[in-house]
Amino acid sequence: MKILVIHGPNLNLLGTRETEVYGSRSLDEINTSLNNLAQELGINIVIEQSNHEGEIVDLIQNSLEFSAILINPAAYTHTSIAIRDAIAAVNTPAVEVHLSNIHTREEFRQKSLIAPVSAGQISGFGLESYLLGLRAATYIVNAKKDRS
Ligand code: DQA
Repeated sequence: MKILVIHGPNLNLLGTRETEVYGSRSLDEINTSLNNLAQELGINIVIEQSNHEGEIVDLIQNSLEFSAILINPAAYTHTSIAIRDAIAAVNTPAVEVHLSNIHTREEFRQKSLIAPVSAGQISGFGLESYLLGLRAATYIVNAKKDRS
């Protein structure tokens, strides 16, 4: 099983960016934890980060070899019809994750354009959102296999 992990804009700055909101772990540390969990689960992951909406659309369009997508769309969560449409267009289930709880933050963050086309959303648990998200993505793929 291969899962594509996509980190959206500004997540490359984790560790120094608004640490009171996003914590002090760097993106590299998050990726190390994801790789360790992937090994434990016996799955393969490919991790990408982009600050560019169109690049994220391309990654999603080219995700045919993957069984699922784990995505933190970051600010594009609240603005990007293009990323939403890309997820809706491909047959790859997506799990949306956020470090912070977007539902308790500013009003403009409380709406996700991505959630309606995702299998589910995990928000508010810091690094653990990603790890739970990876477990959820693995679960979805296995559940789909069992049904077919
Ligand atoms: C975020 C929440 C978004 O509102 C914000 O724009 C981010 C990070 C999170 O992980 O909590 O960049 O997706």
